[in-house]
Amino acid sequence: MTDAIYPDLQGHPVLITGGASGIGAGLVEAFAAQDARVGFIDIEKAAGELLAERLTQDDRTVAFACADLTRTDDLRAAIADLRARLGPFTVLLNNAASDERHRLEDIDDAYFDARIAVNLKHQVFAAQAVIPDMIAAGGGSIVMFGSHSWLLGMGGMPLYSASKSAVLGLTRALARDYGRHGIRVNHFAPGWTMTERQLTKWLTPEADAMRAERQALPDRLYPADIARVALFLASDQSKAITAQTIVADAGWA
Ligand SMILES: NC(=O)c1ccc[n+]([C@@H]2O[C@H](COP(=O)([O-])OP(=O)(O)OC[C@H]3O[C@@H](n4cnc5c(N)ncnc54)[C@H](O)[C@@H]3O)[C@@H](O)[C@H]2O)c1
Repeated sequence: MTDAIYPDLQGHPVLITGGASGIGAGLVEAFAAQDARVGFIDIEKAAGELLAERLTQDDRTVAFACADLTRTDDLRAAIADLRARLGPFTVLLNNAASDERHRLEDIDDAYFDARIAVNLKHQVFAAQAVIPDMIAAGGGSIVMFGSHSWLLGMGGMPLYSASKSAVLGLTRALARDYGRHGIRVNHFAPGWTMTERQLTKWLTPEADAMRAERQALPDRLYPADIARVALFLASDQSKAITAQTIVADAGWA
């Protein structure tokens, strides 16, 4: 498949959270391939450094900041560091999350706070940090990563589902509040996407057969497929779209 080129992304500073592995790494590669100036944040230092180094060798501008984005001060410092290296951000991909399984019976106060922090809180503070950049630039695009899992009514991770459904409300509120500055905010819900983590933890032959049966399009989705949609949402080519839910799950939900 020949990938589309978005000239408006060329040279533009783009911020990606959770970019060291999984879909996030696919986003970093895809935006780097557009010659955007890519900054990404992740807690996985070695994987982040390796990815940044590999892509920078291809003559691209890719900068990595290692931080635990559940610590808001660290997240803010990482964004400030990347802004100083790349310039003000007009595109934010709020991608980081953790789909750790858990049962209602086992949730205590600390676990509740930790799940909300890794799946929701940083999306608020990353948006808060870059919106002034976008206002100064006259606009921008924020892509808020949700999930098709709660849309399907999937069980097994109630706080992930609660966080991801809250991302939709957050999206619509921010789109309304900042639309007058030309800032677009969309809720992007991937389907089951074959990251390393999904392949090693969850993809059994039975689960794969069920997936192929339930998707309208039976092929597996990979991070590059999700990244292609994210590129469109980030680009001015989607300038008519804000406050929307875009589901990329091959027709499962
Ligand atoms: N893969 C799927 O099937 C799927 C399905 C639906 C939605 N999604 C959504 O897509 C996005 C990406 O998912 P993924 O499957 O690539 O996830 P993943 O778990 O494979 O990767 C998440 C990345 O975020 C980083 N991260 C996690 N906690 C962090 C922290 N505290 N500080 C900094 N970095 C941290 C991880 O190190 C990792 O690089 C998420 O928002 C997820 O909810 C994924």
